Amino acid sequence: MKLVYFLSLLVALIFADSTQASATRLAKKWNKPCCPISRCVFNKGDQLVNAPGFSGNTFNGLLQFTQSPNNTLQISGFINIQGAINEEVEGVYNIHVANCSTASTPTPGDPPTIDLDFESFGLPILTSADLGISNITNQCCFVVEEFAVFQGSIPPKERIYGVAPVETVVDCTNIH
Ligand SMILES: *[C@@H]1O[C@H](CO)[C@@H](O)[C@H](O)[C@H]1NC(C)=O
Ligand SMILES: *[C@@H]1O[C@H](CO)[C@@H](O)[C@H](O)[C@H]1NC(C)=O
Ligand SMILES: *[C@@H]1O[C@H](CO)[C@@H](O)[C@H](O)[C@H]1NC(C)=O
Repeated sequence: MKLVYFLSLLVALIFADSTQASATRLAKKWNKPCCPISRCVFNKGDQLVNAPGFSGNTFNGLLQFTQSPNNTLQISGFINIQGAINEEVEGVYNIHVANCSTASTPTPGDPPTIDLDFESFGLPILTSADLGISNITNQCCFVVEEFAVFQGSIPPKERIYGVAPVETVVDCTNIH
């Protein structure tokens, strides 16, 4: 009986020690590097940003930005605009990340911090940008239709299809 006790105590000690050691190794692995993640969520009907003539998002969509250890932003997402062309939106629409205050200008989403006009609606968005997460903090994602571009002094005509603030999903500022 005493031997069994002693053995199980020994086993418990060894077990406790080894889990502590591997937990430390795990913590190190998980904490450095920490990859910051932000995203824009477009919910149909949401009006989280005020702009003249804008009465809510007309589609559902998601854009996610993950900062990889070499400071590149990996961008993924999907913009679900039904009935829209499934080819790059360049020339007809803008998919931009930009200063939110541009929502109230004649060219919402301009100038872009990130330009995704070579991506398509209705297809997976998978690309990258040579930026860090801090470049888009507090900015907004825009999907804008361009009716007409600048022609001399005639201003462009553009309409916001959707605008969503960049929100933090994983914040690494306190882990380093
Ligand atoms: C960073 O890594 C990505 C893949 O994760 C790669 O495509 C890109 O070229 C790298 N950039 C630099 C500057 O090394
Ligand atoms: C956005 O633009 C406004 C007006 O130009 C400016 O005051 C503000 O600093 C800008 N914000 C960022 C995060 O660049
Ligand atoms: C991104 O942020 C860095 C550091 O603040 C800055 O030097 C760089 O100019 C920014 N890039 C863009 C495209 O805004």
